[in-house]
Amino acid sequence: MKDRIYLSTPHMGGDELKLVQETFASNWIAPLGPQVDAFEKEFAASVGSPHAAALSSGTAALHLALRLIGLKAGEEVLCSTLTFSASVNPIFYEGGTPGFIDSERTSWNMDPSRLAEALEDRARKGRLPRAVILVHLYGQSADIDAVAALCERYGVTLIEDAAEALGASYKGISPGTRGRMGIFSFNGNKIITTSGGGMLVSADASLVDKARFMATQARDPAPHYQHSEIGYNYRLSNVLAAIGRGQLRVLSERVDARRAVCAFYKKAFVDLPGLEFMPEAAWGRCTRWLTCVLFDPKKFGADREAVRVALAAENIEARPIWKPMHRQPVFAGCDCFGGDVADDLFARGLCLPSGSSLTPEQLERVAAVVRGCHA
Ligand SMILES: Cc1ncc(COP(=O)(O)O)c(C=O)c1O
Repeated sequence: MKDRIYLSTPHMGGDELKLVQETFASNWIAPLGPQVDAFEKEFAASVGSPHAAALSSGTAALHLALRLIGLKAGEEVLCSTLTFSASVNPIFYEGGTPGFIDSERTSWNMDPSRLAEALEDRARKGRLPRAVILVHLYGQSADIDAVAALCERYGVTLIEDAAEALGASYKGISPGTRGRMGIFSFNGNKIITTSGGGMLVSADASLVDKARFMATQARDPAPHYQHSEIGYNYRLSNVLAAIGRGQLRVLSERVDARRAVCAFYKKAFVDLPGLEFMPEAAWGRCTRWLTCVLFDPKKFGADREAVRVALAAENIEARPIWKPMHRQPVFAGCDCFGGDVADDLFARGLCLPSGSSLTPEQLERVAAVVRGCHA
């Protein structure tokens, strides 16, 4: 069996171990400490947000964001349908109901015209949603201005799920920094990782302070343990923050490397009919966290599942594009505005191995299998 090629693997820079050793030497093996403080500051500076709170996961960050806006049971939150379930689950943690919004074809992210339709519909019915969760998929920013303008017009809070888009840009800003709050993930498959972790950012210091408070069991300021609110154990450990600081130092190199992987595939498949890449929207720079391709079976001679199976037979990991949330059994019965675009992207789309440490030989192996599927 040939060596396994993974979809997206951790890629350490060099400073991580030194920083972890510093942490050990100082005995700050705790869920808080100087590495967490420094990581928050450095991360905030990196994405251009005034404030950031380091948390145990992106999911925890999104959950806290919904707690912080005071989402109540029965209230609706509109969310991109093409995403990972972690964008939606926290809505249920708070008893809310999701309404899903289809993708557009420019960036594969939330279609502002579908969002407008949903907001008009809800305004007509006199029950506006509590928030919109705008997801930035596969390293590419959604059309933030269009979505933010709609949220402003209807007075609906915008929360950005930028778990997959650290290092991307949108008209000169980082996705995740325009909404009331934004969240990021440092899960093992992300562009930089702390093995597990997340960040909540906001321009509003009081929200970020409150997030830190809620993430540390909502302890009132008292010498004894006193609690006036329900809290969570959601803080990032000081040891993992040390890894994050090291990773942040190589973020721009990781973006360049992932873009180079995508450029390699583009060149390798330039003559193949019926194969197209996720477009890069003119409004920003995509990190190509994952290189995503669509197959037209009639022109290519094989569908995406045949390509995935052929890659798997060669011990190469590839994944279908996210199965839309309105197609998930667990979310059956939730409203969806549109859905055909996300359905089509799921039916025809595949994520190819995209890690920043892939070797030229590994990339050649992947390309050869994909080419071999073309009839
Ligand atoms: C779009 C999206 N949202 C949220 C998350 C949740 O992040 P985490 O795994 O850090 O909880 C992920 C990734 O895992 C994601 O891809």
